[in-house]
Amino acid sequence: MRSSFAGKNIVVGVTGSIAAFKVAGWVSTLAKEEAQVSVIMTRSAREFIAPLTFAALSGNPVHGEMFDPVRAERMDHIALGRDADLVLVAPATADTIARLAGGLADDLLTTTVLAARAPVVVCPAMNSRMYLHPATQDNIGRLKKFGYQVLTPAAGMMACREEGPGRLPEWEDVQEILLRAVTEQDLVGERVLITAGPTREHLDPARFLSNRSSGKMGYALARTAFRRGAEVHLVSGPVALPCPAGVRRVSIQTAREMHAAVSQLADAASVIVKAAAVADFRPAVEEREKVKKDRAGLSLELSRNPDILHELGQTKKEGQILVGFAAESSNLEAEGRKKLATKNLDLIAVNNICSDSTGFECDTNQILLIDREREVLLPMTGKEQTADMIWDRVVELRRQRQEMSGGGR
Ligand code: C5P
Repeated sequence: MRSSFAGKNIVVGVTGSIAAFKVAGWVSTLAKEEAQVSVIMTRSAREFIAPLTFAALSGNPVHGEMFDPVRAERMDHIALGRDADLVLVAPATADTIARLAGGLADDLLTTTVLAARAPVVVCPAMNSRMYLHPATQDNIGRLKKFGYQVLTPAAGMMACREEGPGRLPEWEDVQEILLRAVTEQDLVGERVLITAGPTREHLDPARFLSNRSSGKMGYALARTAFRRGAEVHLVSGPVALPCPAGVRRVSIQTAREMHAAVSQLADAASVIVKAAAVADFRPAVEEREKVKKDRAGLSLELSRNPDILHELGQTKKEGQILVGFAAESSNLEAEGRKKLATKNLDLIAVNNICSDSTGFECDTNQILLIDREREVLLPMTGKEQTADMIWDRVVELRRQRQEMSGGGR
């Protein structure tokens, strides 16, 4: 599976902070994912880490000086910025941030940023007092006004043995921001609501009924929607997955809690994707005390949970696109078509839960994607790629609707 970074020209500007060594790891990852990485190091960055490290990891010569008599004809200060798909300044010191905010062009990095047409992402890393100083905060405000994306540094113990904000953010968070910057923004303006994971229906304080959903498909949908420019809310049952960067997550346990959270967010959503495996039933009584062996009966009385998706289908707003999932063990097509109609959906993703490589828990999936016009069996692939193919269809449905209504959402 090809990474979204493959083939992209990424300029990484490294400045003089101890966190430069962490960025060496980022460059290595980007190069392994087949990005063309050009590293520019400021003079002080070269005091912290040898250019040879970045040259070896990126597979390209490292750029340092503005005036290179040997390669003068290449005009690096213009060419690097002009050819970039993305410029990442990491770690960005208070000094570099100040020079970028002032529009200075006194070294190769600042000149390249000025000449760039591509998105610019800045990752500040410095002592907390330097970071919190009004001068730095003002400068960061200016960078944001220029349209640069400035990440909030992480808080914690720093190399200077002081605690506070100023640490370079973790790669997992930065990676998502960079992926968004190099991905076509075809979901901009969409307010997406996704549900994911299982629900837990409590019997007593120790026990619950649940199912095998891992949440991986719903989380992949949330990550990819954010990358494609959507504003994303995720209502999630208990799963072992971190909240994707840029996504707002509401954590719930029971189907009724999911119902309440979804009802609050549904009105404002332009697309709703219900990837959660919601329990259809709950124990009729939730005991306050743990049920003892000798008190327990042999049968459990159940009550029906609300069918959230069915309700959303009944109250669907104009223009809203409603996507359901169906976990089936047989008759995939017939079951999918039935749910598309009865739940008043625009699209349904049907998967086979009786295979080891689709459905619950695994990292791959194969989906039968059905809407009112088309039925497509997607290829067996990773859940992120599957998510992207579902979004492709959502984008098409949106375009068709806009054409039919003569533009406007
Ligand atoms: O009817 P069935 O449970 O197979 O439909 C699956 C779809 O309905 C999924 O999208 C699931 O998230 C949603 N669902 C729901 N509320 C329920 C049960 C299922 O929203 N109580």
